[in-house]
Amino acid sequence: MMNLTLKIWRQANANAKGKMETYQMQEVSPDMSFLEMMDVLNEELIDKGIDPVAFDHDCREGICGMCSMFINGEAHGPDRLVTTCQLHMRKFKDGDTITIEPFRAKAFPVIKDLTVDRSSFDRIQQAGGFVSVNTSGNTQDANAIPIEKHDADKAFDAAACIGCGACVATCKNASAMLFVSAKVSQYALLPQGKVEATDRVLNMVNQMDEEGFGNCTNTGACEVECPKGISLENIARMNREYLYASLKG
Ligand code: SF4
Ligand code: FES
Repeated sequence: MMNLTLKIWRQANANAKGKMETYQMQEVSPDMSFLEMMDVLNEELIDKGIDPVAFDHDCREGICGMCSMFINGEAHGPDRLVTTCQLHMRKFKDGDTITIEPFRAKAFPVIKDLTVDRSSFDRIQQAGGFVSVNTSGNTQDANAIPIEKHDADKAFDAAACIGCGACVATCKNASAMLFVSAKVSQYALLPQGKVEATDRVLNMVNQMDEEGFGNCTNTGACEVECPKGISLENIARMNREYLYASLKG
């Protein structure tokens, strides 16, 4: 069992001035997930009549991308290739002080405490992250379209992006290039995605810029902190797609 000091960002609402608050946690089991530890803290706060800490979560199994904490200066904490819900307290030691902040970026405004508004990602997806299917009766069965194994694997790897925003929170420029490039790549590599390829990359990059995300300066921190191991090669692919699309007009 561990005793911990938590320093947590508290902010009542989007317009309030936030600040770090300190809480003591006793007898934390190393087998708890980080979110379970936060649940216990919140129960203790409620018992004391204190407003519980707002944080996002949903699936708690690493697939929805909702849990978005910046723990000890790292998106999703000190472990690699995991989300906060998959992070276990055994990664910390008795007596540790843990700092917990929201994902910070201009395009991810704080709603309350550790909860941020990531609807900018939804708007980027809506700008082009889809394929249109001909439903006139001539629809081709997707399984009947041959796809090179190499391309299928690369598309699948890109599709593993869960839209968590860790890449943005980690990037010193708050760039969303890793996220957008994963979403562009998952279609660019497949024949089904070729039809709308030109509009897709132009519209998604346009929307990314409109939302106020920063530029990519090839630092690569996003790749290190991405819980799904999305590769920087997707950014290179998106840049090529963007160039071709721009030349095509
Ligand atoms: S690229 Fe990785 S870090 Fe960025 S949103 Fe997708 S899964 Fe999260
Ligand atoms: S709660 Fe779904 S990924 Fe963490």
